[in-house]
Amino acid sequence: MELEAIAKRIVDKQGIPVTARDVARAFAAVLASEDIWRIVDLASLPVLATCEALWAFGERGWVRFAGGRVLATPEGQEAARALGIRPAQELPCPRCRGRGLELEPFRDLLRDFQRIARNRPEAAQEFDQGYVTEETTVARIALALARGDLAGKEILVLGDDDLVSLAAALTRLPKRVAALDVDPRIVDFLRQAAREEKLALEVVQHDLREPLPPELLRRFDTFFCDPTESLRGYLAFAQRGISALRGAGCAGYLGLTRLEASLAKWRRIQMALLEAGAVVTDLFPNFHEYVNWPYIETMRAWPHLPVKRVPGRYEPWYRSALLRIELVEEPRVENVRYRGDIFTDAEAATT
Ligand SMILES: [Fe+2]
Repeated sequence: MELEAIAKRIVDKQGIPVTARDVARAFAAVLASEDIWRIVDLASLPVLATCEALWAFGERGWVRFAGGRVLATPEGQEAARALGIRPAQELPCPRCRGRGLELEPFRDLLRDFQRIARNRPEAAQEFDQGYVTEETTVARIALALARGDLAGKEILVLGDDDLVSLAAALTRLPKRVAALDVDPRIVDFLRQAAREEKLALEVVQHDLREPLPPELLRRFDTFFCDPTESLRGYLAFAQRGISALRGAGCAGYLGLTRLEASLAKWRRIQMALLEAGAVVTDLFPNFHEYVNWPYIETMRAWPHLPVKRVPGRYEPWYRSALLRIELVEEPRVENVRYRGDIFTDAEAATT
């Protein structure tokens, strides 16, 4: 079976767990678009797995790479028919872009947030940064408000190149907002914005590989975090967030991609969240759209791409799901120190 053989090749060469079903997803993406970034997006696989699949399709004559595009050949169309694979279709709701949220009441917040965010620091590869669009940050705040996790609550943001703490504080609804970030540029930017806008926003420079300061443990109602996606890094960030929550009924908001996390990794992450005392209450695929970062050509996945094109700044291909978790038991996590590189694993693509 061709799809199984390609899946095995991806497992052997890239060390990424994929199934024949995943290879079919990559092929369905190829049938839907000739654009490499749209294919990567629609395939919903770790980027390096999609690249390896594309090379395998090329060797079988199912696609050819020409003029910076990925073109399905007549042989590829015939193989798709034989395998029962149809072009990928996303079918998002045109009004809410699939988020299921009405953002009209947040128009003023978005305007103020965009005005302040205009001078934000650019994403840095050193810290695996890459921020979401301003509309995405406001949508996150809207969802937290709708879930009762914002107004009158104490909120912690762990790693804040998305400026979530700023958007949260601008609503003037939370009781307290605190942000931790390792990058002095982000810390300075948030502090200056807090001064100028007279916001109740505390900002602490902190490396999340280090344990949380004791005064932040078990103090918050809600946390936000868009972790780096190596399994170790992801769990480090998520567990820090959980350890900051007061207890049962408190909530966390986390990003998670399909582009740097296989479903096998999703499973391990979900099991770790459950074991920590939490349950996943909400999951929105593709809730987060990222602004393309300036280090595309030096990111880990770049040499693997069969066709190379630098995407435009606002040409979203890198998207992630939003998970809301809620503690139903006392938080069970250890506040340990992590050493070394927490950013890289076999599935990492954008580090
Ligand atoms: Fe909708």
